Amino acid sequence: MNEPAAPLLKVEGLSAGYGELPVLHDVSLEVRRAEIVALVGSNGAGKTTLLRALSRVLPSTGSIVMDGRQLSRAAPDQAFACGMVQVPEGRQLFDRMTVQDNLLMGAYRRSAKAGIARDLDKVYGFFPRLSERRRQLAGSMSGGEQQMCAMARALMAAPVLMMIDEMSLGLAPVVVEQLMGVLADIRREGVTVLLVEQDIHLALSGADRGYVMETGRVVLAGPAATLLSDPKVRQAYLGV
Ligand SMILES: Nc1ncnc2c1ncn2[C@@H]1O[C@H](COP(=O)(O)OP(=O)(O)OP(=O)(O)O)[C@@H](O)[C@H]1O
Ligand SMILES: [Mg+2]
Repeated sequence: MNEPAAPLLKVEGLSAGYGELPVLHDVSLEVRRAEIVALVGSNGAGKTTLLRALSRVLPSTGSIVMDGRQLSRAAPDQAFACGMVQVPEGRQLFDRMTVQDNLLMGAYRRSAKAGIARDLDKVYGFFPRLSERRRQLAGSMSGGEQQMCAMARALMAAPVLMMIDEMSLGLAPVVVEQLMGVLADIRREGVTVLLVEQDIHLALSGADRGYVMETGRVVLAGPAATLLSDPKVRQAYLGV
């Protein structure tokens, strides 16, 4: 019998907070290679806090193993070196820089500099709109284009695991649909995706598996389709 492959990311018993304020309680989850996993929950559930702990900008207790490496006490650099790259809530682009310079900033911290030009082409292939606008200042683009730019910048860092915080926030449904399509393309290229969303229906519709968080705890987990039809999810989050 073959052993099942170890998950790319395995989090066990993670707790974290801000100063004296506990926010995350005993969170466990895993992400397998080339999966799209949705992490969903309402306002203030602790989703962004969890991403901060995973990328090591916030200290935590418990275990975080990424690609076989224990990161629980690691610094942000080490999480990045394992291929964890975040697309932050609110995009945080360099508004006064061009699209292309923003993308090149994404490649700035990566160790393998070879292949940057090729990756730029590939990323423009995912986002033709950005290709047309490579000389435009990032801050002058529409919300949807800015989200594309933030995702493209993260891709330029050659992520193994791309963690996207509130991808759909404030965007029109047609743009969100395009972005979901790009996530599927990205995954086909072998990048694993952790998609954090308040829009539970959207995230579960595009994911393989999901975790539902409430007040700092994982309260439900399973295949995305199962969660979407779960009466508790439907009643509490989807209003049906
Ligand atoms: N820098 C901070 N200092 C103190 N408390 C914080 C800080 N950031 C977040 N919190 C608190 O931690 C809790 C979880 O917040 P978090 O931002 O992780 O939630 P979220 O699930 O990402 O919410 P949203 O969907 O609104 O983005 C909230 O109660 C919030 O007030
Ligand atoms: Mg958040």
